[in-house]
Formats: sequence, structure tokens, C-alpha cells
Amino acid sequence: MNNKHPAFGFSTRAIHHGYDPKDHHGALVPPIYLSATFAFPTAEYGAACFAGEASGHFYTRISNPTLALLESRMAALENGEAAVAFSSGMGAIAATFWTLLRPGDEVIVSQTLYGCTFALLHGIGEFGIKVRHVDLTDLAALQAALCPATRMIYCETPANPTLRLVDIAAVARLAHQQPNVTVVVDNTYCTPYLQRPLELGADVVVHSATKYLSGHGDITAGIAVSSHAIAKRIRLQGLKDLTGAVMSPQDAALLMRGLKTLALRMDRHCSNAQAVAEALQAHPAVQWVTYPGLASFPQYELAARQMKQSGGMIAFELKGGIDTGRRFMNALKLFTRAVSLGDAESLAQHPASMTHSTYTPEERAQHGISEGLVRLSVGLEDVADLLADVQQALGKCARAVARPTLLAAHAGK
Ligand SMILES: Cc1ncc(COP(=O)(O)O)c(C=O)c1O
Repeated sequence: MNNKHPAFGFSTRAIHHGYDPKDHHGALVPPIYLSATFAFPTAEYGAACFAGEASGHFYTRISNPTLALLESRMAALENGEAAVAFSSGMGAIAATFWTLLRPGDEVIVSQTLYGCTFALLHGIGEFGIKVRHVDLTDLAALQAALCPATRMIYCETPANPTLRLVDIAAVARLAHQQPNVTVVVDNTYCTPYLQRPLELGADVVVHSATKYLSGHGDITAGIAVSSHAIAKRIRLQGLKDLTGAVMSPQDAALLMRGLKTLALRMDRHCSNAQAVAEALQAHPAVQWVTYPGLASFPQYELAARQMKQSGGMIAFELKGGIDTGRRFMNALKLFTRAVSLGDAESLAQHPASMTHSTYTPEERAQHGISEGLVRLSVGLEDVADLLADVQQALGKCARAVARPTLLAAHAGK
């Protein structure tokens, strides 16, 4: 999938791809086509549209000019051939699963996944699709799990919320030794600015475009990017008939507005997160911190090879576990206590009781999600203000952790 859109750089494509004002009365910003349905010049043309013999737009659940522009832009940014837009990330993921999997098929998924994706996999299991959770950092384990019924390998990298990485090129090489295996990567944490899975051998990229791609927390949206052939199947089965999870044209316009500043925003998310991760690592109240830009990150070399920068997400745990974690979260004044990620506003949440409460405690333990893990989505505010907020909240935790120790020391005297 190399160099499908070679002419311009990333931001130029994000701002201009697929649009010329002279085709739209000179309008600098693409118009929004709100129409749900489109007129057929003749009855025969309408029939040809439904038979797939004519290429025009005829009903917005299948295609729409505003959505088509967004889709061509996302394909250009991910270096794929085509994209399909959805009303949410879960819409994109569900439509991809329902299109590419059938009863009797097997899907191999990486060990840690966003909570609702994990729940969706439980759901498809009830329809006769076998789901195998495999540590995809262990290629021998992947090789052992592959079998003639395997139709898909699915992963997030970095994974939500542990930030564990999957070597996309190595997994795709192994997967493609077998016919009919589709490698699907959730690229929500990175966006195509930091990582392009299709260039590394993946077949489909899915996104929660609710996050960094739109970037302002004002829409829910999803995208799947792939070859023309796979996108056509996902559109005509997964989108049109199996989920109906179509994006609204207004949301497509907001998403295209977000894409224009994606590169600038990601640079800032990454530099802010690096500073916050370093501050956490240096603080005595912190038990551990995981961030791909820290030299202590277990897959530091893979992160440097696979990702352009380290992203805006941090996972960490405080000494004293989730009790201290809650104290930290409640002490934050600038970070907002909220789920979601990739917004201008910095956010803090507790996966075990929020985004990953779809796992049982036993499943979280099996899948590497500790009960005390706190997740930060580092936003675009001034880094000094973010550091001051984190430091003051940590200060309250350090005192709280230290107090019982002091009391115990006194009690011993
Ligand atoms: C990695 C990842 N994938 C998919 C989703 C689902 O996206 P949405 O909330 O837009 O349906 C999320 C949501 O948090 C996510 O974090």
C-alpha cells in the first residue's frame, strides 16, 4: 500500500485533498450536503445505482458527497485506497467484524483492548465466531494460534489503556503467510500522523474519530480505511445493512475541520505528554508510569521504529493503588475527570471502574489492566499549567501515603 497519495505532505493533504473551490462556487470550506436522498435523472439510472452499475450518490446511509470527501481525505492520510465513515468508532469496528467474519471463523485479538471492543468480541462469540486472545508481542504464540479457520487478526497499538505495542509489520508478515487472513489495526491512539499501519502491512485501519482526528470532543465518529475491495464490502454490508451506523454530514464537516490541525495538535499532545510522563516518573508517590517516550518503556525501541512520536496518552499507578489514584484524580484542578481522549482539554480517568469496567476483575488481571491504573489524555494547554496541576495533586497523594507510615513509626515508639 505504498505511496498511493505521494504528491503533497501530510498537512497539505489534510487541508486540501479532494477539494477544489472552483467546483463549489469558490467556497473555501466544502459545503455540507444535508440531503438524505438524491434525485435520479431517470428510473433506469436509479435502477443502475441500486445494481451497482452507476456510481452516483443515492442515499446517505450508503454515500453522500460530504462523507465522500472526508473518506477520500482519510484514505489519503492513512495511505489507503478507500475509507468508510461511521457514526462512532464502535460503528466502524462492529461493521468491519460483521463484514469480514462468519460463523465458524476464528479471530485472533491482542491481549488488551478498549472495553467496548472487548465486549463486542464477547457478543460476536455468541454468533459462532471463535475469539482467541493472544499476546501478540509473542510471535511464537501467534504462530501457534493461527489455524485454517483464522480470518482476522485484530489489535490496538498502543493498546488502551496499557499502551502495550504490537509490532504491526512482524504480525502482518506472519498473518499473510496464510491466505484469507485480514490484519485490522485500531490506530485511534496514534492517528496517521504518528503511525500508518497500512504501510506496515495491515489490511484495514479503524479509528474512533471521536478522539484525536476530530480533536475537539464535539462529535462521535468512526472511520475504516483499506483497499477499494474491502471498503466496498464494508460499505455495502457492514455499513448499509448490518449496522446502519452512518456518520452525519455535519459531523463529517467538523471532522474535516479537525483534520486541518491534526499535525499541529499531535505535536503539542506529544510534547506535553512527554513532560507530564517525566514529571510522574520523577515523583516519589508514583509506583510506575508507562509512556512510549520514556527510556524505561519496555518496548522503547519498537515505539521509536513504529511511531513518529510517542503520543498523548499516559498510564500510571500511584503507591497505595486506586485509593490514592482516586485522591489524585479528585485533587486535579485543570485536568478534567472524564473518559474519552484526544481532546484539547486534558482528561483523567480510571479504566477499571470506567472505560474497562466491561471486563470482570479477573479478566482485567488476565489482560494486564491493573486495578490502580490511572489514564491521562494529555491535552493542548500550556505545559507549565499541566505540570503544576499534576504536581499539586501528587503532593496531596504523597502526604496521604506518607501519613500512615509516620503514624506507624510513632506507634512503634
Ligand atoms: C482505542 C479505541 N477504539 C475504539 C473506541 C470506540 O470509539 P467510539 O467511542 O467513537 O465509538 C474507543 C473509545 O474510547 C477507543 O479508545
